[in-house]
Amino acid sequence: MMEKLNARLTSELETFRREGVYKQLLYLEGPQAARVRMEGHGEVIVLSSNNYLGLCDVPEVVAAGKAALDRFGAGTASVRFICGTFTIHRELEAACARLVGTEASLSFVSCWNANEALPATLLGEEDLVISDQLNHASIIDGIRLAKAITKCQTGIYRHGDLVDLEEKLRAARDRRVRMVITDGVFSMEGAIAPLPDLAELCRRHDAVLVVDDSHATGVLGKTGRGTAEHFGMVGEVDVITSTLGKALGGAAGGFIASTGAVCDYLTQRARPQLFSNALPPTVAASALASVEFLERHPQRVETLRSNANYFREQLLASGFKPLPGETPIIPVILGETAKAIEMSRLLLSEGVFVTGFGYPVVPQGQARIRCQISAAHTREDLDQALAAIRKVGSRLGVT
Ligand SMILES: Cc1ncc(COP(=O)(O)O)c(C=O)c1O
Repeated sequence: MMEKLNARLTSELETFRREGVYKQLLYLEGPQAARVRMEGHGEVIVLSSNNYLGLCDVPEVVAAGKAALDRFGAGTASVRFICGTFTIHRELEAACARLVGTEASLSFVSCWNANEALPATLLGEEDLVISDQLNHASIIDGIRLAKAITKCQTGIYRHGDLVDLEEKLRAARDRRVRMVITDGVFSMEGAIAPLPDLAELCRRHDAVLVVDDSHATGVLGKTGRGTAEHFGMVGEVDVITSTLGKALGGAAGGFIASTGAVCDYLTQRARPQLFSNALPPTVAASALASVEFLERHPQRVETLRSNANYFREQLLASGFKPLPGETPIIPVILGETAKAIEMSRLLLSEGVFVTGFGYPVVPQGQARIRCQISAAHTREDLDQALAAIRKVGSRLGVT
C-alpha cells in the first residue's frame, strides 16, 4: 500500500513541477531581518516576511528567550492542567490582553490552534457561525471542525459584504448564539475589515463578533493595538484571536483575547489546551518581550506605516498597480500562477525575496506577488528592492 501511495504522490509532485506551481523551500542561514543570508543566494532583501516590526532579531527579544530557557528549562513535558503552567505564560497572557484591550487572554501554540479551538469549544448544535469568504484557512478549518464536532450551523458571507451578512443574520434569529468571524486584515489582499459596520451589525442582531488580528496586531492603530485601535474601537470587539508568530517576535504562538469567562471556559474545554503542551517558555518569553518592546517603542508602528506608504507610492509611480490599501501588505496582481512564480524567481536572482502566490491560496487567475514591508527596512533596502521590481517587471511585461 505504501508503494502505491508514494507512486501517486510522486506523480502529483511531478505535475506541480511541470505546471510551475511547485514550492521550493529556501533556507536562511541567519535570523529573519530586513536582509538575510540565504543558502545559495547570498544576502537578499526580504519582502516576504510578517516580521512587520522587525523584532525577530532584536537583542531584548532574543535575550528574553535565552533567559527563560535557563530559568524554566525546555518545557513542562505535559499539558497545562496536568503538570503545571509556567508563570511566564500568565505574564504573557496578561500582556496580550492589555495590548489588545480585553479582560483576559489565553495562549496557544499557534494562532492556527487558537482558531481551531474557538468555534468548536464555544458553540453547540443550537448555534451558528458565519465567516467572511476570504478568511484565513485556519478559520475555515476551525469552522469545519466545529461543524463536525458540535453540529453547529455554518455559513459564509461574501467578502466584506454587509448586506449579505445581514441577510444571513436575519435568517438566524432562532439560533442560541450567532457568531461572526472575520480577519482584521486579509493577508492576501492587505484589506482591512469594515469593523465599525460589522460591530454595529452584530450589535443590532445580537451576534458575537470575532476578529482574527494576526496581520493587524503590532501593525494597525497608532500604537499597534490592532484593527480596533485603527478604528478607535479598542474594547469593543467581543473576541480577538491573534498570532505571536508575526509582528510580535515571529517565533510562534497565538492567543484568544476576550472576557475572563471565555478564556476560562477555553482553559477548561478547548481540546488543544487539554491534549497538547503549552508554548515553550523560550517562545513565551520572547513574545512577552516583544509586547513590552512595542509598548515602549510605539514609534516603530509609525516607521512601519511610513515605509509601507513610501513603497506603495513608488510602485504606483513606476507604473505598477498594487491593490489599493493602507497596510504593509502590498500585492501586485499578475494573473496566472506560473507568472507570479516566475517573477518571484527572477526577483530572487536580483537579490530580492518576494513570494509569488497562486491558486488555491488565491482565486484562479489572480496570482500575485505580495510585498510585505517591515519597520526594519531602510530607505536603501526599499529603493534597491524597487529597482529590482522595475527591472523584472519590465522584462515580464508587467508594467
Ligand atoms: C489571518 C491569520 N490567522 C491565523 C494564522 C495562523 O497563525 P500561526 O502561524 O500563529 O498559526 C495566520 C498565519 O498565516 C493568518 O494569516
